[in-house]
Amino acid sequence: MPIETKVFDLNKEFDEGMDYASSVIRDGGLVGFPTETVYGLGADAMNEEAVKSIYVAKGRPSNNPLIVHIWDASQIAILSNDFTPLARKLTEAFWPGPFTIILKKLPSVNETVSGGLDSIAIRMPSNPYARELIKRSGRVIAAPSGNLSGKPSPTKAQHMIDDFTGIIPVILDGGDADVGLESTVCDLRGEVPVLLRPGGITAEMIKELAGDIIISPGVMTKLKDGEKALSPGMLYKHYSPNAEVYLAMNGNDIPLRICKLYDKLCKDKKTVIYCKQESLKEYEGRNAVSLGKDSQEIASRLFDSLRYADVKGYDAVIFEGVSTDGVGLAVMNRIIRAAAFKII
Ligand code: TXA
Ligand code: MG
Repeated sequence: MPIETKVFDLNKEFDEGMDYASSVIRDGGLVGFPTETVYGLGADAMNEEAVKSIYVAKGRPSNNPLIVHIWDASQIAILSNDFTPLARKLTEAFWPGPFTIILKKLPSVNETVSGGLDSIAIRMPSNPYARELIKRSGRVIAAPSGNLSGKPSPTKAQHMIDDFTGIIPVILDGGDADVGLESTVCDLRGEVPVLLRPGGITAEMIKELAGDIIISPGVMTKLKDGEKALSPGMLYKHYSPNAEVYLAMNGNDIPLRICKLYDKLCKDKKTVIYCKQESLKEYEGRNAVSLGKDSQEIASRLFDSLRYADVKGYDAVIFEGVSTDGVGLAVMNRIIRAAAFKII
């Protein structure tokens, strides 16, 4: 049975929205809320039944752990008693913000939220609406990206409205997400940070402070059958529109390869090329759309462009790859998954 989904525009209905949503969290319900990265689907992390309902609502595999959101560093103690010196150093620099840390989990935290692992992912978001929701609810909030499992993450409230109307009781509309890609996930249990998922806080930024960084093999390559993923979420086909997605990367004849594939596909498929602003001229006469002038801009538009491909009814999408420097690594990590490793 569908339920009523209330949507609050936080610009105009800040107090009503926050009061309602925080009481839903306290009562064990689910809330769609904005963060600076993407929208989240939140519940009280310490309420195991509430956390279970997140997995059900998303259709998410139960071994894919969730990130717990805090608004103040004092809440770390609820989740872990092993706040390593490395974690202290990096969070002092990158919190609040798009940076998630993996620490050893306290046994008092249920294993549903950690997908059965003995570690826990923690993030302090910078978005003031997200922070207010956590603070007002008086809880720590488990929240995956607020999309149905396998779909592109939501960067606008409308994306959550599309996926969850009739399924969750409330969605808070706080405008478009700034970063547009999910947070950087970094395991800080050891001496050297291990990057599990690239995001807005880049590998270069982490390395500069920590002196070193290990980039998990799953970030840019496909794990072999049976190979263990350090971050289970990176295993699954992800961020996919209905269209088949291709990625052109490596080498200096990318436009040529894209044109060839486009000309073949467009005979019987509605096809689009997503590229950088400066490359538009390479695809003249073909259906090409610019995603922005640099990786930062492409990051903020990527998920919306994947959802838009469905709205437009495209059968095929060809992405032009970007450099993996800076936030480009996160952009490429997401496109590779959207393309399910179909690389040309
Ligand atoms: O920006 C974000 O991180 C957003 C917003 C809502 O905060 N959340 C988000 O959550 O992207 P989700 O569930 O879509 O992605 C969480 C990622 C997954 O890849 C998951 O496998 C990984 O974090 N993760 C969570 N706990 C982990 C753990 N204990 N060890 C390793 N990876 C973990
Ligand atoms: Mg997600």
